[in-house]
Amino acid sequence: MAGLDGTASARSEIPASLPAAPAAQLEGVRISFSGRQAKETPFIAVDSVDLTVADGEFLAIVGPTGCGKSTLLNATAGLLIPSVGRVRVFGQPLAGLNRQAGYLFQAEALFPWKTVEENVAIGLEVAGVATAEARARAMAWLKRVGLGAFGARYPHMLSGGQRKRVGLAQVLIRDPKILLMDEPFGPLDAQTRQIMGNLLLDLWSLDRKAVMFVTHDLDEAIALADRVVIMSAGPASRIIGEWRVGLARPRDIAEVRLLPEFHALHREIWSALREEVAKGYLQTEGAA
Ligand SMILES: Nc1ncnc2c1ncn2[C@@H]1O[C@H](COP(=O)(O)OP(=O)(O)OP(=O)(O)O)[C@@H](O)[C@H]1O
Ligand SMILES: [Mg+2]
Repeated sequence: MAGLDGTASARSEIPASLPAAPAAQLEGVRISFSGRQAKETPFIAVDSVDLTVADGEFLAIVGPTGCGKSTLLNATAGLLIPSVGRVRVFGQPLAGLNRQAGYLFQAEALFPWKTVEENVAIGLEVAGVATAEARARAMAWLKRVGLGAFGARYPHMLSGGQRKRVGLAQVLIRDPKILLMDEPFGPLDAQTRQIMGNLLLDLWSLDRKAVMFVTHDLDEAIALADRVVIMSAGPASRIIGEWRVGLARPRDIAEVRLLPEFHALHREIWSALREEVAKGYLQTEGAA
């Protein structure tokens, strides 16, 4: 322990390299939405959420529909301000937009009037990169996501899976340190989801960004992530469990699901999640 004066003995305890600050940290976060009428009590979507994603970590967030998964990503992106608690990014309190984050939204966000190449290049162009260079880098990214021959097409001329690839290239070209992904493969068929999952893991393994990946699909969460957290059904949803995924990397999404360790972990997490999913559906029905 350090001496009372905190000098010599304290100094000797400082490790050679201090651990890096987590990429993102939500501390006691509550997000509430005000009612439509002035006197209506605000709706608390999430409450008392403590969640950390380390630099280089792939975190999956799973929870029933309407529990607040997108809300948490929005708070991490700086699009929503917590009414209680705070968000830190690499140790610094977040004020305004999170410039370290790239966000792949739940809904598709491609410009229909721009070609695929233009859609991918636009983030760089807005950031001031010269058009020719931005377009060249966009084409390189399109090749990386397997769409090298599709740059001149418009989004409506692509399949759903191809559009998701464009979305991925559009976000990764900005080289964000934190990747926020909101059910990015949700609308795709099972086979295409697996292909996209493997593509994502391949790209992620190149420089291991911090990832917050939201999904309904527990199989997908375990297959992709280093850690899975689950949320309770709302309102005032919280994190109710956390599991490390020790499966070796590199992983193949289809193969990893056949492993006994995968099944054991799935059973364990599902037993905690099942009840919340049922509650979530009941609430959605009740609200309809
Ligand atoms: N702008 C808003 N105003 C009022 N309520 C909102 C707003 N945005 C979200 N909510 C409510 O907050 C709760 C959480 O919404 P959120 O979109 O984060 O859920 P989710 O877990 O992402 O759901 P899903 O899995 O269906 O995408 C829901 O009850 C939703 O109706
Ligand atoms: Mg959502």
